Amino acid sequence: MPRQAAAPVAPFFLSRWSGRAFSGEPLPDGALASLLEAARWAPSSGNNQPWRFVYALSGTAAFKAFHDLLAPGNKPWCKKAGALLVVASRTTRDDGSPAGTHAFDTGAAWMSLALQAHLFGLVAHGMGGFDYEKAAQVIGLPSDHAIHCMVAVGRPGRREDLPEPYRGREEPNDRRAVGAFAFEGRFAG
Ligand SMILES: Cc1cc2nc3c(=O)[nH]c(=O)nc-3n(C[C@H](O)[C@H](O)[C@H](O)COP(=O)(O)O)c2cc1C
Repeated sequence: MPRQAAAPVAPFFLSRWSGRAFSGEPLPDGALASLLEAARWAPSSGNNQPWRFVYALSGTAAFKAFHDLLAPGNKPWCKKAGALLVVASRTTRDDGSPAGTHAFDTGAAWMSLALQAHLFGLVAHGMGGFDYEKAAQVIGLPSDHAIHCMVAVGRPGRREDLPEPYRGREEPNDRRAVGAFAFEGRFAG
């Protein structure tokens, strides 16, 4: 059943979804630069811009090292991604004080990247299933930084080429109703 909006929204909010079928081709020239550019313009508290993206392009030693970080359920379909990214943020401001909204701001930046990927006809799939400690070593995470997620980005492939159980799940999912997460004045009892 196609996604249905309960109130008018721009169509790309519904048509974006986290596919797992990648074609195995490299990213189009300049695509990664544009995705990072989209992330660059995300809003952040005090314009602190705490997000950090560490990327690895397919076919490189770094891609293999990033792929090795992934949980078993993410490894098979990520093999054919054009790039793998680790999304992190700096947890302090320039004056050394805590950046209380670093995670929130970085979430906004990742969503900008994901939406731009979708608008280019690419797939961007966020992942929490990976070894965070090893990732910190692999990317050389500085001490006042935190890792949030990884992202697989690539050209879309054919659903039929995905192995099971991924093939059967390769379709957009649904959402709870707005009433489950938005409340006037106070949480509903
Ligand atoms: C932070 C984060 C972590 C996620 N972790 C994984 C993951 O490890 N493996 C996976 O297959 N999908 C993962 N997902 C994808 C979610 O399952 C997906 O976004 C959610 O089901 C909503 O579906 P949609 O993105 O297709 O709209 C993750 C998404 C986010 C934002």
